[in-house]
Amino acid sequence: MAAGTANGVTWTKPILTPEIRAEISAYFPRYPNKQAVTLPALHIVNEKLRCVPMEAIPEIAEMLELSPAQVHDTLSFYGFFKAEPHGTVRAWVCRSISCALRGGDEVLDAMCNKLGVKPGGMTADGKVTLEFGECLGVCEHAPAMLANDKVYKNMTAEQAGLLADELRAQADAGG
Ligand code: FES
Repeated sequence: MAAGTANGVTWTKPILTPEIRAEISAYFPRYPNKQAVTLPALHIVNEKLRCVPMEAIPEIAEMLELSPAQVHDTLSFYGFFKAEPHGTVRAWVCRSISCALRGGDEVLDAMCNKLGVKPGGMTADGKVTLEFGECLGVCEHAPAMLANDKVYKNMTAEQAGLLADELRAQADAGG
């Protein structure tokens, strides 16, 4: 039975598939206790489902021998995790001070215009989600962006438009 569907992604109960459970369990020997695996577990679920559905929280909690509230506390602490699926590719435009002072707004506007989204939004085809990001640690190369684990430095509005096309292509290739 379908437990949920959003943005083209459907998940069924149990949310944690045997594959996901095996990946989470593989972390247990690396940490002093199961609670310490909360963050890795959330990342694994997010990577597989492009979100962490609320329905997954009790299942994660059971695996980690925690209460659902404990798992939810960790999840809600990080703006990174969303309950609804994000695009195949997720991109962040840094809005912290150095990037803001060096044209981050123009980069964000160019990305938004090219992708047809507002900050936080996902393209209609589900390929790209564009979000605000906080300092990416490359302030000397501001303005900066992050997408698919790659940092893009010294961005211009023109480069942002080209990158928007590239991110769509990356999504077509599987993200
Ligand atoms: S302020 Fe943008 S990378 Fe540091």
